[in-house]
Order: sequence, then C-alpha cells, then structure tokens
Amino acid sequence: MELKKVFVPCLAVFIIMCISTYSLGGSSVFKVDREFYPYYPSLIKWNKSNVDFVPPEECAECHPDKYEEWSGSVHALAFKDPVYQGELNKAVKAVGHEISRQCEGCHSPVGVVTGEIKKPGLKGLSSIAVNGVSCDVCHSISDHTHWQTPSHEPENGSFIMTPGVETKEGSVRIKRGPKAPEEGCGEDFHECVESPLHLRAEICASCHQVYHYDSHFPLEATYLEWKHGPYAQREILCQDCHMVNIDTFTKSADTFKKPEKSEYHHYFNGANYLLYFLASGAAKKAGDEELAANIQHKYEMAVNRLKSAADIEISPVHQEGVLSEVKVRVKNIRAGHNLPTSLTNVRQMWLEITAKDDKGNVIMTSGTLDKDGQITKNARLFNSDGMGDDFHFAIDPWIVTSFSRHDTIPPRGFKDVYYGVPLPSGVKNISVEAKLRYRQADQKVAEALLGAVPEDIDLAATYGLTKVPTLPVVDMVTKSSKLSVRK
Ligand code: HEC
Ligand code: HEC
Ligand code: HEC
Ligand code: HEC
Ligand code: HEC
Repeated sequence: MELKKVFVPCLAVFIIMCISTYSLGGSSVFKVDREFYPYYPSLIKWNKSNVDFVPPEECAECHPDKYEEWSGSVHALAFKDPVYQGELNKAVKAVGHEISRQCEGCHSPVGVVTGEIKKPGLKGLSSIAVNGVSCDVCHSISDHTHWQTPSHEPENGSFIMTPGVETKEGSVRIKRGPKAPEEGCGEDFHECVESPLHLRAEICASCHQVYHYDSHFPLEATYLEWKHGPYAQREILCQDCHMVNIDTFTKSADTFKKPEKSEYHHYFNGANYLLYFLASGAAKKAGDEELAANIQHKYEMAVNRLKSAADIEISPVHQEGVLSEVKVRVKNIRAGHNLPTSLTNVRQMWLEITAKDDKGNVIMTSGTLDKDGQITKNARLFNSDGMGDDFHFAIDPWIVTSFSRHDTIPPRGFKDVYYGVPLPSGVKNISVEAKLRYRQADQKVAEALLGAVPEDIDLAATYGLTKVPTLPVVDMVTKSSKLSVRK
C-alpha cells in the first residue's frame, strides 16, 4: 500500500520530467526563452508596426540594377527551390508543422512572421513569401540576437526585422543600408538609416549557421568556419567574395584587398550550379528568355567559382629508392571557409585518380563513377557523414545530431591523401592524373528529394523534368604528373 502511494506520484513526476526534457527546447545546456523567440524553432524576431513588408517588384521600380542582380539568385530562389520544397515536405511529414517555421525562418522569413505559409508548396502565396530572401528581408534587419540564442552563437535566423516604425506623424517605412543617407534618399517611399551591420559578416551569419531544430547541433557552420580562419582576421567578408564578380572575388581572396564600393553586386553567388541549371530551364519553359540568360550567367559564375577554389599537387613517396606511394595534396586556396561548406553531409567533393604504366595501361583507379552515377567505394571524399541519436548514418536535418566523420578542408589549409600503386615488373615511369570533382548531392539523394516535392509543384510542367537527370559534375582542378619508379 505505502509503496504504491509513493510510486504512483513518483512515476507521474518522472513522466513529466521526461516529457519536458524531450519536448522542444527543454535542454539545460541549450535553454530556450520562448517568449523572447515567439517563432521558435526559428529565432527570428519582428518589431511589428503598421508598416508592411514590400515585395521585391516594388523595390525594383527605383532600384532596377539591384533587382536584376538579385533575380534568379539563390536568395531569390530560396523558397521556390524544388530541392528545398522536397526536403521541407519530408520534414513536415516526419516531425510535424512546427519544424517548418525553423526552415522558413531562413528560406522565407516574411512568410513566417506574417503567418502566411501554412504548408509546403507555393500555391496561393503572395510575392513576398514566394520570393524567399528578398530585398525587404535584408534591408529591414535592424539588429541580431546572436549572443542570446540557445547556443549563444548565431543560429537559425537570429536577426530582428523592423520594416518601419510608428511616430507622432504616422507610420514611417525605414530601409537600412551601408550609406549615410543623403537628402532625398528613398524619395517619398522610405526613409534611409545607416546600418554598420550591413557592412559586416554578421548580417549573413544568422542564416548561414543552421542548427538542428531541437538539439542545436551545428549542421551548417559557414560563418564560424570563416570567423575562425585567416580571411576574418584580414577583414575579407562574405560580401567581398559573394557580392562581387569572379575576378573581384579572386582578387579579394588572393590579395586580401577589399573591393571598391562600385564593385559590389547583389549576386549572392556560391556553388549551387544545379539550382541555376533547374531555374534557367524553368525560365526558358515559361518563355522568359531574359531571366533565363540572367540565370545562365549566374550558373557560369558558380562553375567558375568552384574552378578557382582549389588546387592539387601530386608528388612521389620513395622508400629505399623505390616508389611506394603517390601523395596528392588538395588545397583550399580561395574559399573563405571550409571547402566544401554548408551542407557538407550532402555536397560531394572527391578525388578521381588514374595511374598508368609506361605503355598506357591503367594500373590503379580510385573515385570513378559507375553507370548508376555512384562513386566507387574506395574513393576519398572531402565532406561529412551525419548520424542520428542511435549512431546510425543519417542525412535528414531533423535526424542528424552529430557528425561521425567531418572531413572538409579549412580556409588556406590542405589535406594529403596517399595512394598505394601496384607496380608491374620492369615499369620505369608511371603517369598519374588527379581530378577534384564536385556535385551537389549523391544521385539517389537528389532523386529522393526531388521525388518528394509537394503536389502543387509539377516538375514536368515547370522544369521540363520527367525524371531526375544524371547530376552534372564539375571538375574543379585536373593535374597530371609523370613519376619515376626509381629515385
Ligand atoms: C539558419 C538558416 C536555415 C535554416 C533554419 C534552414 N536552412 Fe536550409 N539552407 C540554408 C542555407 C544558408 C542553405 C545553403 C547552403 C548551401 O548551399 O550549402 C540551405 C540549403 C538547403 C537545401 C539545399 C538546397 C539545394 O538546392 O541544394 C535544402 C534541401 C534545405 N536547405 C532544406 C532545409 C529544411 C528542410 C530546413 C528545415 C528542417 C532548413 N533547410 C532549415 C539555411 C537554412
Ligand atoms: C541577403 C541580404 C540582401 C538582400 C536579399 C538584398 N540586399 Fe541590398 N544590400 C545588402 C548588403 C549587405 C549591402 C551592402 C553591400 C554594398 O556595399 O553594396 C546592400 C546594399 C544595398 C543598397 C545600397 C548600396 C548602393 O550601392 O547603393 C541598396 C540600394 C540595396 N542594397 C537595395 C536592395 C534591393 C532593391 C534588393 C532586392 C532586389 C536588395 N538590396 C536585396 C544585402 C542585401
Ligand atoms: C520611389 C523610389 C524608391 C523605392 C520604391 C525604393 N527605394 Fe530605396 N532608395 C531610393 C533612393 C532614391 C535611394 C537613394 C539612392 C540610392 O542609394 O540608390 C534609396 C536608397 C536605398 C537604400 C540605401 C540606404 C542606405 O542608407 O545605405 C536601401 C538599402 C534601399 N533604398 C532599399 C530599398 C528597398 C529594400 C526597397 C523596397 C522595399 C526600396 N528601397 C524601394 C528610392 C526608392
Ligand atoms: C534571411 C536569411 C539569409 C540571410 C540574411 C543571408 N542568406 Fe545567404 N542564403 C540563405 C538561404 C536560405 C540560402 C539557400 C537557399 C537554397 O539553396 O535553397 C542562401 C544561399 C546563399 C548563397 C548561395 C549558396 C550556394 O549554394 O550557391 C550564398 C553565396 C549566400 N547565401 C551568401 C550570403 C551572404 C554573403 C549574405 C550576407 C550579405 C547572406 N547570404 C545572407 C539565407 C540567407
Ligand atoms: C575568400 C573568399 C570567400 C569568403 C570570404 C567567403 N566565401 Fe563563401 N565561398 C567561396 C568559394 C570559393 C566557394 C565555393 C567553394 C565552396 O563551396 O566552399 C564558396 C561557397 C559558399 C557557399 C556555397 C556552399 C554550397 O554548398 O553550395 C555558401 C553558402 C557560402 N560560400 C557562404 C559564405 C558566407 C556566409 C561567408 C561569410 C561568413 C562566406 N561564404 C565567405 C569563397 C568565399
């Protein structure tokens, strides 16, 4: 009797403790203030007033150049992106609607605070929601809460949007930017406020640190990789490589010299040539040749950026005068953060090696693609493997709570790979070709994501895709070397 009296309340307390530990934001290390962060698991904040958000087409009327540069950018596509929509759809099915706020807080921030987005898909949404990371998102950012977040680091959209304020004279729309405003700035449409934040990497950090929605594990940590590296120390910011054309980016990376004011453009160009490939196809299909050409230009920029990011050195390792191994050094020469960065457990960057004897016979290969587009097992990849709580391999961002392997190359750093080569008798020289190859994802992963798009996205009608094509591979660097077997 007595035992039961004690046991039942104890059990009740235990269950309550369990529930509160495992429900969203219950960790004692990563404490969550849900009043401070009303859109949790997104950490965005909104200073609400009568001033509404403005779609990008309206900004375009007075800022046509900026609009053209931004159009077709990955920011413009952040919400429409079919790969994103496929993953979002899977996330909502697996975890429930609440997680979609986390995703959309970065992929369509205005859609979250206005509550307009109710489910995956694009149907019935206004321009400002569909246009992802648009003008009024960035130019309404008035501050950040990077040190108040559950991780006390920038994460999951920890910025504050203030599109305007109420004054005695009425509502005032305010846009924040890099300049001290001159007379007439914004004409009668908006007032201008000088914002030093827009000239710092912290304006990008809130969205370029993607943490697990509940455990706060850093799934993507581009900003911190940058901050802990040589470019941050020399004040070369995200903007100095990603808001300029390719020539200016290589100059920023090589000389640590900041671009001129006039060299900045709203391209936000990175490495995702696959998305540009899909989006320019969609623009062509819709009959918008101008947009298709604009996106094609961004596609070329992304490919050229990848082709400038790395270098390879091949050298022989001799033991007792005989070639024992081939050393391949892969250097990150121009990425301001790790190479690759961001979705390191999805992106694939790997070495393909072919060694031949004097007669041209292949004596060793590694990292070739088989007929199904799979990379051979012995390949050396530079990326990471995610794992869930059960220590098993996982890819989906709501499951991955740590990396079992995290093998990317730090900025201005390198990794060495050693290959054993079987030497046929009598061979004097061997020739070695090394290629550093890149693609957005494994073929099967891409097929799974594109296969999960919400019903209102018709891949055939919009993108002309009846099946997922073989993912294009970019060769970032190719080097060959002839090595003598005896030293
Ligand atoms: C903190 C901001 C942030 C949050 C939260 C976030 N993302 Fe992202 N997402 C990004 C950024 C930045 C990239 C681009 C990284 C890159 O290109 O490697 C990205 C890229 C992606 C991609 C790859 C798109 C492509 O075309 O290759 C997918 C898919 C994606 N996110 C899905 C999601 C889902 C689903 C969620 C919610 C579970 C989510 N994201 C939450 C910022 C965020
Ligand atoms: C991802 C954030 C982001 C987005 C989206 C964005 N901007 Fe900017 N914008 C910036 C940053 C950062 C700067 C400062 C860089 C610079 O010096 O040009 C800037 C600068 C500006 C400036 C002042 C610089 C000048 O040369 O006059 C204007 C005007 C501007 N943006 C308008 C726009 C418009 C219009 C759009 C949409 C078509 C837009 N921005 C989208 C981040 C953004
Ligand atoms: C009626 C015309 C008009 C419209 C519409 C307009 N702007 Fe402007 N804006 C201007 C003018 C004029 C300037 C000053 C010259 C310049 O920087 O281009 C300016 C300046 C800016 C600046 C620079 C502020 C600074 O201090 O650095 C930003 C940022 C900006 N606008 C963003 C926006 C955004 C975002 C939108 C859409 C929500 C928008 N503008 C819509 C006319 C307009
Ligand atoms: C409101 C959130 C947000 C802010 C602020 C933001 N980004 Fe992004 N950014 C994203 C998302 C989301 C994506 C990925 C969209 C996708 O792949 O579907 C992205 C993609 C990118 C890419 C393209 C990546 C690729 O794979 O090609 C670059 C480059 C980039 N951002 C640079 C910047 C820079 C530089 C800044 C600061 C000036 C910035 N971003 C600020 C959300 C943001
Ligand atoms: C010194 C130049 C440089 C600086 C500084 C730099 N980047 Fe990059 N970034 C690159 C290069 C080169 C690539 C292509 C190789 C790669 O994916 O790492 C890239 C790729 C990216 C991608 C695409 C990843 C993908 O999977 O497609 C994102 C997102 C990105 N950068 C964001 C940022 C942000 C945010 C900052 C600032 C915190 C920043 N970058 C600073 C050069 C730079």
